[in-house]
Amino acid sequence: MKRLPIIAEAPSELSDAQDRKISYLRVSVTDRCNYACTYCVPERGVPMVRRERLLTFEEITRLISLMAEMGVRRVRLTGGEPTIRKGVVSLVESISAINGIEEVAMTTNAHLMGTMAAPLAKAGLASVNVSLDTLKPGAFAELTRRGDIEKVIRGIEACVAAGMRVSTNTVALRGLNEREVVSLCEFAWERGISPRFIEHMPMSGGAAYSERNKFTSVEIRDVLAQHYGTEPVAEGSDGGRGPARYWSVEGGGRVGIISAMSEHFCSTCNRLRLSATGNLHTCLAHDDALDLKSILRGVPAGGEEIQHAIRAALSLKKEGHEFDPSGRGGPAKHMISIGG
Ligand code: 5AD
Repeated sequence: MKRLPIIAEAPSELSDAQDRKISYLRVSVTDRCNYACTYCVPERGVPMVRRERLLTFEEITRLISLMAEMGVRRVRLTGGEPTIRKGVVSLVESISAINGIEEVAMTTNAHLMGTMAAPLAKAGLASVNVSLDTLKPGAFAELTRRGDIEKVIRGIEACVAAGMRVSTNTVALRGLNEREVVSLCEFAWERGISPRFIEHMPMSGGAAYSERNKFTSVEIRDVLAQHYGTEPVAEGSDGGRGPARYWSVEGGGRVGIISAMSEHFCSTCNRLRLSATGNLHTCLAHDDALDLKSILRGVPAGGEEIQHAIRAALSLKKEGHEFDPSGRGGPAKHMISIGG
């Protein structure tokens, strides 16, 4: 009898119409935050969603497992503030155990890391990006509306002590931190941490900061060049880990700069974002999203159906962002509900 040829399984990797491969998923686990940074939360506030609208941990791990089958290798938990969702340590543990997931990371304000860093590291959290926009206690309290810089510094040190890879995220804003580039870098370098600066992206359909707060990556490098008396040397990106380009500063250390506005990197985008309510966003800068939660909770959807829906959404991933440098326009969604 003639044998049927063995048909190789169809390639299951996730890629979009521009052939960008998706290997990285950002998952917002809550839309709530214990801080309310002025660049993230508009002054009038943002309505919080009811708890039952959040994806459960089982739903989150199921979606990540399905995406891991399609090539997702790294997961970053974001928020709101991920450490305030009850049970997040066990969520990290479950995600770390998923076949195919190579790294679990988190973006946090580190307010609670003094006590949570060690258990999170034990559960498998390998790396954290800590939002740190100023080291001045007064300015920090004002920016975060309720933050405590001393607690954050202790939290950062607890993350380092727990063995996690730590980076700081500073949203570069003239009028806030243009005179703190060197002190933020040295704060990080002294602790074996990588400092990173991010150009501000106007969200929330026009926000508290505008053109006059613009502080570009070239200007950040100029500040470093002036202080250290030598131009930072380009080191390239971090092996596909993220959009930061790294520079080495003689007499200092390495610094990452994310030039989201002045020189965008959409052509190498490798990510999808899952909101706390289960919407799959294919781009930070656009508001369209796929309601994965309804698919998940509706007809008992099989894994393949869900994977099919994810591919269909991805095929519509936009080629690039359309942030409006004037600060007007841009996506209406708020950073607090998507987590960067
Ligand atoms: N533009 C640039 N970066 C931002 N972040 C939050 N809001 C903005 C914005 N509008 C950064 C924070 C956080 C990370 C997820 O994104 O520093 O650490």
